[in-house]
Amino acid sequence: MDVFDAITRRLSYRGVFQDKPVPRVDLRRIVQAGLQAPSGKNLQSTTFVIVDDPELVNMMNALHQSNVAMRQARAFIACVIDKDPEPVYHGHSFQIEDCAAAVENILLAVTALGYATVWIDGWLRLEDHAERIGKALDLPREKIIRVLLPIGIPEEVVPRKEKKPFEERAWFNSYKR
Ligand SMILES: Cc1cc2nc3c(=O)[nH]c(=O)nc-3n(C[C@H](O)[C@H](O)[C@H](O)COP(=O)(O)O)c2cc1C
Repeated sequence: MDVFDAITRRLSYRGVFQDKPVPRVDLRRIVQAGLQAPSGKNLQSTTFVIVDDPELVNMMNALHQSNVAMRQARAFIACVIDKDPEPVYHGHSFQIEDCAAAVENILLAVTALGYATVWIDGWLRLEDHAERIGKALDLPREKIIRVLLPIGIPEEVVPRKEKKPFEERAWFNSYKR
């Protein structure tokens, strides 16, 4: 799939997944796309735990009350950063941006291979979900799951979110002109 097709087809999927596993070879390809992402000072700060062990997957499925994709995912990718990232450039850390760049690459790879996912972030910060999952995945104390991606083969066709037109959000040479 052409990169522009993947960009156009990508969407946040919160629906039913087919009852089929995600082969490791595909999970590796998907995460490799994340490893290829740019990162501040090329520090490659984001690390990943790929969850495909059925027991762990079931445990994680059971944590979410409402998001069907989370409840039915056949694999998860946990994107991990430092809890307190060290400044690396004039007092700034780029770990959140590094992670976001890696996640977007992963979303596009997921789409290109015919799977679906949704960027889970807010929920991780409620009720210690990130800490609880991190513990189950043996994360060291200084690490935290910043983004969690439930992966599976989508069963439903879900409507694509409308994006604002180019003219409302982008301009040449001058802001809003
Ligand atoms: C930083 C960030 C955090 C997000 N957190 C969540 C989340 O916690 N739960 C969720 O269901 N979707 C989450 N999303 C997905 C957005 O809701 C989604 O991208 C947005 O509604 C646009 O829809 P689309 O991805 O289908 O274009 C998040 C997306 C981003 C970029």
